[in-house]
Amino acid sequence: MCVALISRTQEKLDQVSNEIRVDFLNKSEPEISSEQGKGEKFQVDTKTIAVDFGQGVGIYQTIEKGLAGLEIGVLVNNVGISYSYPEYFLDVPDLDNMISNMISINVTSVCQMTRLVLPGMVERSKGAILNISSASGMYPVPLLSLYSSTKAFVDFFSRAVHAEYKSRGIIVQSVLPFFVATKLSKIRQPTLDKPSPAAYVKAALSTVGLQIQTNGYLLHALMSVLSGQIGPQNANSIMADKRQRVRIQGSWAGPARKPAPGLPAATGSGGRASLPCAVGSAWGGAERTFEFQQPTQVKRKVPEVVIMELRLIPSFLPVSEADWMFAQLLADLPWKQKSNLLHGESYEEPRLTCWFGELPYTYSHSTLQANTQWHPVLAELRQRMELASGHSFNSLLCNLYRDGKDSIAWHSDSEPSLRPRPTIGSLSLGDTRNFEMRKQPAAEEDGDYTYAERIRVPLSHGTLLLMEGAVQEDWQHRVPKEYHDRGPRINLTFRMIYPEPGPR
Ligand SMILES: NC(=O)c1ccc[n+]([C@@H]2O[C@H](COP(=O)([O-])OP(=O)(O)OC[C@H]3O[C@@H](n4cnc5c(N)ncnc54)[C@H](OP(=O)(O)O)[C@@H]3O)[C@@H](O)[C@H]2O)c1
Repeated sequence: MCVALISRTQEKLDQVSNEIRVDFLNKSEPEISSEQGKGEKFQVDTKTIAVDFGQGVGIYQTIEKGLAGLEIGVLVNNVGISYSYPEYFLDVPDLDNMISNMISINVTSVCQMTRLVLPGMVERSKGAILNISSASGMYPVPLLSLYSSTKAFVDFFSRAVHAEYKSRGIIVQSVLPFFVATKLSKIRQPTLDKPSPAAYVKAALSTVGLQIQTNGYLLHALMSVLSGQIGPQNANSIMADKRQRVRIQGSWAGPARKPAPGLPAATGSGGRASLPCAVGSAWGGAERTFEFQQPTQVKRKVPEVVIMELRLIPSFLPVSEADWMFAQLLADLPWKQKSNLLHGESYEEPRLTCWFGELPYTYSHSTLQANTQWHPVLAELRQRMELASGHSFNSLLCNLYRDGKDSIAWHSDSEPSLRPRPTIGSLSLGDTRNFEMRKQPAAEEDGDYTYAERIRVPLSHGTLLLMEGAVQEDWQHRVPKEYHDRGPRINLTFRMIYPEPGPR
């Protein structure tokens, strides 16, 4: 047997591929050897194809080549993405990319993979295609409108193709799970109604050949019946509150769980704590003792406590004053579009900038030259910012977001010339834009921001935001593109710059 795995990260594919081989050998050897003769091993081969389903249809040529010569008996269309958090359609971050990406990954993949694999199945008059839709595809789900609709497509497509090919020996199953504890749902801890992927898959596989449309798991089937009883409208309004709460938190991630009460604490360094555990009869009924051994090497140091401080002063400038300052700065400042370098490629920033300060300022591999000709409005604002914050500022980066399409991507202000833990005073003038922050993930998350805490602050005309302490170390920030009509916004970010390389 051969299992072909298709996903985007080769490293993860290799890991799953090894797990499958080891698992199969361990689990199937005794049974198979009795069936197939002593000493005969059950063989499972794996094959991996690393492609990004968000890319264009060209990837299907790569997949077709990778699958050439294989008789595909079962196809599982599992790949899927959702939003980072529930959101109104127009407020979904990076909406234009999200639309094409989600349709490519959730919808096109199902149709194209079926196109590649179904002919062989039809020729052999047997085969099964399991398409992973979602309970969100059973009825329209506000705040997940795009996701819910792509999943409705998967459900309709599966049932229609099944009707077309069932007489040819093909099963096409539509699987509609409620929550499963995975990276996508951002649920870490499985519960009875939000099972682990292993528990869910085990239950779902037992429905293949029996149900063409399935929730795949008994409790999910009950939830589906219940939502049918109370009607999709009412079910939606019950869940809508929950989605609204999650939307406002900006993430599905829940608070950290407390350790279970009553567990014995580990003893001091080099000590041992043992946890006696009576093991049930299913495991042989013996009394076993698990011992905790203090690791000899400390894996991670307890981080130094550095406070991050955010101060938001909504009416730092009265509206009348903010109005004329905005008009004057918009007209007078030497706004220019800066070119930066990313992976050796030059790109133009989606906003205009200008720089004031005795020293030049370098970020993203390009430099803004020193400019000591402070505009009188800026010189006056600098004094007022210093008074309000208790910090001195010798430099100022001005950003002009011309409309909702202008933006700044995730970054932190951590250039060496700013020195560690800089204070940045950010003053907003003009139309309101969302300022978003996400926390740097812990080391074990390996750069994955999926579970990162997020904050969104709408910054309106005349608002001052002060970022101090460990903000730049511990958080990234951005101003995402928006799809409402947005007028121009000027953001003045005052800071203290030192000659490079700054002493640390
Ligand atoms: N979890 C739930 O509560 C739930 C509920 C209903 C339906 N579903 C559906 O179940 C399916 C599986 O979801 P899951 O919860 O297991 O999600 P998951 O843990 O995020 O897994 C999704 C898989 O798809 C891969 N993937 C994502 N984007 C890709 C891309 N552009 N190209 C190639 N591979 C890509 C991921 O690879 P990487 O690991 O490299 O990112 C990962 O292997 C999805 O279709 C989802 O809509 C999930």
